[in-house]
Amino acid sequence: MKRPVAYIAGTGHAVPRRVVTNDDIAAMGLDTNDAWIVERTGIRQRHLAAPDETLTSLAAQASRQAMEQAGVLPGEIDVIVLGTASPDHLLPATAVEVQAALGCSRAAAFDLGAACSGWLYSAIVAESLIAGGSADTVLVIGAEKLSSIVNWKDRNTCVLFGDGAGATVLRRARGGHRGILSSYMRSDGALTQLLWRPAGGNVEPLSPEVMAEGRHCIQMAGREVFKHAVRSMAEATDRALDAARLTANDIDLLIPHQANVRIIDATAKHAGIPPERVFVNVDRYGNTSAATIPIALNEAIQQGRVKEGSTVLFAAFGAGFTWGSLVVRF
Ligand code: ACO
Repeated sequence: MKRPVAYIAGTGHAVPRRVVTNDDIAAMGLDTNDAWIVERTGIRQRHLAAPDETLTSLAAQASRQAMEQAGVLPGEIDVIVLGTASPDHLLPATAVEVQAALGCSRAAAFDLGAACSGWLYSAIVAESLIAGGSADTVLVIGAEKLSSIVNWKDRNTCVLFGDGAGATVLRRARGGHRGILSSYMRSDGALTQLLWRPAGGNVEPLSPEVMAEGRHCIQMAGREVFKHAVRSMAEATDRALDAARLTANDIDLLIPHQANVRIIDATAKHAGIPPERVFVNVDRYGNTSAATIPIALNEAIQQGRVKEGSTVLFAAFGAGFTWGSLVVRF
């Protein structure tokens, strides 16, 4: 087992005030119902942001908690990495707006685009920055306001997603076995069109037609994505466990990306981790993409399911496709 170079010193999360149930969505005139959504996804409700709840404000709220828990002052943050697919502005990065909101005046800040793997990729980048000597303390955020990029007339996608932010502070490890024990990240860009926003970028800029057809919103071939998610999450858990020289028996908690409870169950079953050692909150938040894992981690700590000495396996999968995993000792 390698000696960790970075550990998670603090966590926090924030979700919008408004809770929207499956019945609320059906009441919007969509041909869907609570029974279908619960059976196929496990989702019962999600939090959706009001106009004043920006990605920046949610991310900053989560970050303040994480920094307080870590005992880190704004001036001590060297780098901010924000994993997101739904930035407040197309230019500049939302990370710099979060930097200004927090007063992290010394930091370098940038966004990272890896969709639902956004926090996990960002954590691996942060670990590398620490290992390379260019940072000691990195604020790693996963945050999304997916409600602004979802087509509210498309029942195939709109029922799945939610808004929220999770934040973690990664610090240089000073000896011991606490920290990131192994990591794994992969992408496959051959199948981008199974989960994407076809228009609104350079290839097909925004136009009245694009907006009328909702082609600037998320489109997904759900059944295909499902198969890839199950396969890739399984591979990711194997790789991170192998690299850490651990088995499922060593894992106190699996915190997988929260997209669909059936994908979570399949991932846990493949890894040989029983349900009582798997964290699930997709029923309350839906899929908040890059934010699912840091929100789940913060809740798991609040509930006492992750404590000092716990070994946690994280696995993510998202648009791109992108996927990856981490084993972390707390
Ligand atoms: N309500 C009622 N019926 C619906 C709904 C809905 N909200 N959505 C779809 N249906 C219908 C479909 O039209 C289809 O009808 P048909 O058979 O007449 O064509 C039927 O239900 C079955 O549809 P499937 O797509 O086969 O349903 P499936 O069991 O695959 O579940 C789901 C769909 C939930 C989307 C699932 O495929 C899934 O979770 N996919 C993966 C999602 C994911 O992991 N995304 C990756 C991360 S997201 C990111 O990176 C941003």
